Amino acid sequence: MSDKEKEGLDVSEAQIAVHWQEEEYFPPSSQFIAQANMTDSTIYDRMSLDNFPECFKEYADMLDWYQYWHTTLDTSDAPCWKWFVGGKINASYNCVDRHLKKYKNKAALIFVPEPEEEPHLPITYQELYVRVNEMAALLQDFCGLKAGDRVTIHMPMTPELPVTMLACARLGVIHSVVFAGFSGRACGERISDSTSRLLITMDAYYRSGSLLEHKDKADEAVRVADEEGHTVEKVLVWQRYPGKYSSKTPLVEGRDFIVNDLLKQYHGKRIDPVPMPAEAPLFLMYTSGTTGRPKGCQHGTGGYLAYVTATSKYVQDIHPEDVYWCMADIGWITGHSYIVYGPLSLAATSVLFEGVPTYPDAGRAWRIAERLDVNIFHTAPTTIRMLRKAGPDEPQKYNYHFKHMTTVGEPIEPEVWRWYYHVVGKGEAAIVDTWWQTETGGFLCTTVPALQPMKPGSAGPAAPGIHPVIYDDEGNEVPAGSNKAGNICIRNPWPGGFQTIWGDRNRYVSTYYARYCKNPESKDWRDWPYLPGDAAMQAKDGYFRILGRIDDVINVAGHRLGTKELESACLAVPEIAEAAVVPRVDEVKGRVPDIYVSLKPGYSASKEIEKKVENAIAETIGKIAKPKHVFIVPDMPKTRSGKIMRRVLAAVSNNMNVGDVTTLANPEVVEQVRKMVQGDAPVAVQQDGPEDLKRFGQE
Ligand code: WTA
Repeated sequence: MSDKEKEGLDVSEAQIAVHWQEEEYFPPSSQFIAQANMTDSTIYDRMSLDNFPECFKEYADMLDWYQYWHTTLDTSDAPCWKWFVGGKINASYNCVDRHLKKYKNKAALIFVPEPEEEPHLPITYQELYVRVNEMAALLQDFCGLKAGDRVTIHMPMTPELPVTMLACARLGVIHSVVFAGFSGRACGERISDSTSRLLITMDAYYRSGSLLEHKDKADEAVRVADEEGHTVEKVLVWQRYPGKYSSKTPLVEGRDFIVNDLLKQYHGKRIDPVPMPAEAPLFLMYTSGTTGRPKGCQHGTGGYLAYVTATSKYVQDIHPEDVYWCMADIGWITGHSYIVYGPLSLAATSVLFEGVPTYPDAGRAWRIAERLDVNIFHTAPTTIRMLRKAGPDEPQKYNYHFKHMTTVGEPIEPEVWRWYYHVVGKGEAAIVDTWWQTETGGFLCTTVPALQPMKPGSAGPAAPGIHPVIYDDEGNEVPAGSNKAGNICIRNPWPGGFQTIWGDRNRYVSTYYARYCKNPESKDWRDWPYLPGDAAMQAKDGYFRILGRIDDVINVAGHRLGTKELESACLAVPEIAEAAVVPRVDEVKGRVPDIYVSLKPGYSASKEIEKKVENAIAETIGKIAKPKHVFIVPDMPKTRSGKIMRRVLAAVSNNMNVGDVTTLANPEVVEQVRKMVQGDAPVAVQQDGPEDLKRFGQE
C-alpha cells in the first residue's frame, strides 16, 4: 500500500477520470451558423502561439482608440503584463458615445423590476449617454474625484448601477463593485482595502417579493472601514423610486447625500471622456482565496475591454440587433464582463433583471424572455437546476426562442445540460459552457458556437488565443486523452487577464504564478504559466472537463467562498473554540457550507449557539453563505500535529467513505461526529463521491 492509500485516498484522480463516460456531440443548427459572427475556423491559426501576441490586435481593433498603441505586450515587469502600451482609450466612450451615431434611439438597457406590475424600463443609448454624463459631472464636481481614485459601489441590479460604473470609467476613476447581497462588514473591508473615498449605494431594492432595506449596510460598512483606520468621506445614496426615500435608516448629516437630488444641479452637463492609458486600471473585483482577506483583482482598461468585446462577439454571438439577457448579478465578474462592458461595447440591448427568476412563480423568467423577445440567454448551472426543480415544464408554455445560451460558474451535470438544451433552448439554441474566473476577465475555455459541436458537461476547447496545458504535481504535462486529471494552466498571457492583486503584488505572484514558474527572474512570458487553481482533464478531442477547485474554496451557487473567511466569521462568536467549514452537495446550489464548531470550556451545545453562528456568517459574509447545518461537535478530528481533518468532515457530511482514520490523534471522535450528522443507523456509504469533495481538505 502506498502512503496515499493508507490515508484513505484509495482512488487516484486517474481512476476517477476513467469512470466517466464520454458524452455525445450536439451540432449547432444551420440557422445559427448562417447568422453567426464567427464562422471562420482559421481563427485558431491566426491566434496560435506562433502569432502571439500580435494576434490580439484583431481584438483591440474592435474598439475606438484616441491613440493607437506601440507595444502589444510589454513583459518587462513579468508576470504583471501590460497590453497595448502607448494606447489611449476610454471605456465609457466605447460603451456609449461611439454608438450614438447609429443607435442613439435603440435600447442599451432594459430594466425589468421584480414586481411584475411595474413596467419594463428601456434606456436608449442617448438616454444612457445623458445619465452617464450627468453622474460623471456629479462625481467630478461634487465629490472631487479624478482619474485613479477608487470608489466602492454597493448597489443592486438597477440601471443606476451600470450608469454609475460608466460614469466612473468616463473619468478614469477605478470602480470596485461589491455584490449587493454581501453584508455591510464585507463591503467595509473592501472599502478599506481599496481605500475608496466614496461609497455609492441605494436605499432599497426588491427581492422575492419584498422591498429590502439596503442603506443600513452602508452605515455598517463605513463603521467597519473606520475600525480598520480608513475614513469614507461621502456616501451617495440612489433612490430605488426616484423622489422617494425608501429606507428606514436616517441620512448622516454632511456624509450622506441623495444622488437623485444632487443630479438636478448637473442637468444637461456633459463631461468629455478622459483618454486613459490602455493599462490604467478600470476596476477592482474582490474574490475569495483559500486564506486571508479577499483579493482585489485589478483589471486594466484597453486589454480587458478588447477581450470582453471580442469574446462577446465571437463566443456569445452578440450582434447589435440582439436582445441579450444575462441573469447574473453585475456585482460579480460575469455581470461586469457580460452584462455591462462586453454587450454595451457591441451596441447590444442588455436586459437587467432585479429579482429572482422563480418569483412569483417558475414561469417568470420565460415571461420576460417572451415579452422582450430575448434571443440570447446566459445563466449559471445553479439557476438552471433551480428553474428545473421549480417548473420543469414551464418553458414550453411561453413563446420565446433563443438562438444562443451560455452556462457559467461551475461544472454542469450532463443531465442538467440536456434539460437546458431540450427544454429551455427548445432544441434550437447553441450552448456554450464557458470556463473562466474573476481573475481572467473573460472566457478561457468554451466552444466558438458555430465552429464546434457542444458536448454536455465539457467546457469545450480553449477559446481562440488561449493555450492551456495540464500539469501534474511534478510539472509534467498530462496529455489529452490520457484519462488523467491535473492542474490546468494557461501558457500565455491574454489581454483580459487581471494585472495584479490590488496592493499585493507578492500575493499575485505566489498564488497564480509561483507554482509552475520556470525562472522567477525571467521576463519571457513562456516561463510564467498561469495557475487558475482548478483541476481538469482533457479528452482526446481537445475538450476540457473542469473538475473543481484544487484549493479549499467552496463554490456555492457558482460563487467562490473562502473556507477561511467563513471559519473566521464563526470564531467571532464568543462561545466558539474551533470551526471547520466543508462543502455539502446540494441539489440546487451545487455546494453549500456545512459548519462544524467546537465550544470553549464551560459552554454546552444549544440551538442558540447554532443560531449565533448562522447570524455571524450572514453578517460577516452575507446570506449567500448561509450554512446548511451547524454541528456543535465534542471535538474536531485532528492529525497528531493538531490539524483539523476537513477531509474527514466533508466525507461525513456527504455520506462518503471517511477512509482510514486510525492515524488521527482522536479517531474515536469520527464515529461520534458521524452519528451526530447521519444518525445512529448506518448510512449507505458512497465509495465514489464527486471529485471536488474527494480532493477537499487534502494537503
Ligand atoms: C468555476 C466566475 C466548471 C471554476 C466566472 C473557477 C467553472 C471558478 C466554470 C471561478 C465552468 C467557472 N465549468 N467550473 N463553465 N466556470 N467555474 O471567479 O472553479 O466567481 O475557478 O468566476 O468557478 O469563479 P469566479
